[in-house]
Amino acid sequence: MRFPDEWIDRVKSSVDIVEVIGRTVELRQTGRNFVGLCPFHDEKTPSFTVNPEKQFFHCFGCNRGGNVFNFIMETQHVTFPEAVTLIAEERGIPVPAQSTRDKQREEKREQLRKINATAARYYYRALRQDAGEAARRYLAERGITQELAREFFLGYAQPGWDGLVRFLESQDIDLKLAEEAGLIAPGRQGYIDRFRNRIMFPICDHLGRFIGFGGRSLDPRQPKYLNTTQTPVFDKSSVLYGLNWSKDAIKQQDQAIVVEGYTDLIALFSVGKENVVASLGTAFTPRHARMLGRFCKQAVIAFDGDTAGQRATLNGLEILHKNQLQVMVARLGSDQDPDTFVRTHTAEQVDHWLSSAVPFREYQIEQIISEHDITTREGKVNASNELVQILIQMDNAVEREEYLRYVAQRLDVSEASLTAEINQKMGIDSPRPVQNRYNVRGVSVTARKDREEQLAEREIIRFLLLKPSVLSDLLETGVTAADFQHPDYRKLFAAISQNQPADESGSELIAQLCSLEDPLGSWDDYLHSFLLILRRRRLELMEEKLSALENDSRGFDTRMELYRLIREYHQILREIP
Ligand code: UTP
Ligand code: MN
Repeated sequence: MRFPDEWIDRVKSSVDIVEVIGRTVELRQTGRNFVGLCPFHDEKTPSFTVNPEKQFFHCFGCNRGGNVFNFIMETQHVTFPEAVTLIAEERGIPVPAQSTRDKQREEKREQLRKINATAARYYYRALRQDAGEAARRYLAERGITQELAREFFLGYAQPGWDGLVRFLESQDIDLKLAEEAGLIAPGRQGYIDRFRNRIMFPICDHLGRFIGFGGRSLDPRQPKYLNTTQTPVFDKSSVLYGLNWSKDAIKQQDQAIVVEGYTDLIALFSVGKENVVASLGTAFTPRHARMLGRFCKQAVIAFDGDTAGQRATLNGLEILHKNQLQVMVARLGSDQDPDTFVRTHTAEQVDHWLSSAVPFREYQIEQIISEHDITTREGKVNASNELVQILIQMDNAVEREEYLRYVAQRLDVSEASLTAEINQKMGIDSPRPVQNRYNVRGVSVTARKDREEQLAEREIIRFLLLKPSVLSDLLETGVTAADFQHPDYRKLFAAISQNQPADESGSELIAQLCSLEDPLGSWDDYLHSFLLILRRRRLELMEEKLSALENDSRGFDTRMELYRLIREYHQILREIP
């Protein structure tokens, strides 16, 4: 929901930032500003200032700053609209109503959820009446007790064509809306039920509101599962089955077990594992990942034995991984799913299975290795090619180094040859081999760092060539030719920044760089990582200076210099994540 800008301004001018911040931070006036100890980082001398004229705060220590809303957001962990509302309510300023369109849309959604709830009740009753005899027997055979069926509000859609239609009519429910909810569809003579002769699994959103259904067919000739199609309240790309029942356990354990099916989730619940969600057999989307990320940091993937290895699944896991979730994989035999596993094993075995989950990257690597016979030379080469691709994808340097070592061990090849392979694929050793600083053991920290820094320098130059307008951006940050370590790049940058033509070797380099594929990331990303590298280099330099000074701290000047350096050192340190 969006508030009108004028209203936000009105709320902002109704308070004094000095007064609001003064409630939690002890402020002292110095000249026109107020200063105090920064609430966002640890400090002993005040570097946190509040400017009453401009109504903003800024900390010279940690660089945080903003207006009164930003302060509330940071200190009270609320969103922007929440921060504005908090202040408005405190000042007695009425919060504007939503736009009529928003309101109508929300009312419609509420109606659809109500109709879903009504249908869920209808199915629920049918399962417990005479007509539900066969369905009850089916559930019993699958080990789903009456208590479990009640807990998950399971129901039964009878085989007839219009049982639900007639029931909804008897409840005076608008059938047009029931159609929009995905429950009924127009047939030749009026509406017919969409779900027939199926066990019904109601699907709720994380707040427990009924948004859709999954229906398991009792007739083997019909498609096994039928799910609600896309509706204004049901979106497969964001719904996680079971979250309404499991979110507390997930939050508590900071971990979610992710399964594919309704029955997998119910089976795990039945043995006391209540931190489970089901993905409904679809691949993960970033919205799924963000939803899950609100409740926990770790996801344990417990997919069916026969699907876990599929590439599509791996892509889904990659999405979770990219969204800051720590992803583990709990492996199953190819003919098993969590439901059958739980029902044929003891509680200890289930515990053991889940706790032996391996990190997603390790799983991914093992998966590839299992697809090749690495005892043959050819198999090893093929596996290594695929694995190098995976290593290249890893954007965390520590992670990459960790798994480079792992892969080298598993394939029984040297780390140095894998590193060389990676460098070649990333095109780092072009334009010409630089002095090789690899140490004897192959991949040294310096070698990797050099490679990364060289790549960063190269990408900056490439961007300058492809999009000359970014030059002013770069110069504004104070970057000079001296900041490039690679002599070729340094020379080329000097020429570009002074608007001079490149010499012969420079032109050759330009041609080479332009023949590479377009950069993958955005300019901002490249610029950011380059600036980070510059700061790191500066830190290293300072570390050297500091240790020299520390051994020679006699005169006053030396102490002042030491003091100044330490301050700058910490300043830079704070700017590096
Ligand atoms: P499975 O085929 O593994 O389901 O699909 P399951 O839970 O093991 O089924 P049972 O044990 O034979 O009853 C996993 C999930 O994928 C979705 C469903 O959400 C199912 O729970 N699915 C599967 C469909 O949507 N349609 C299908 O035809 C099959
Ligand atoms: Mn299954």
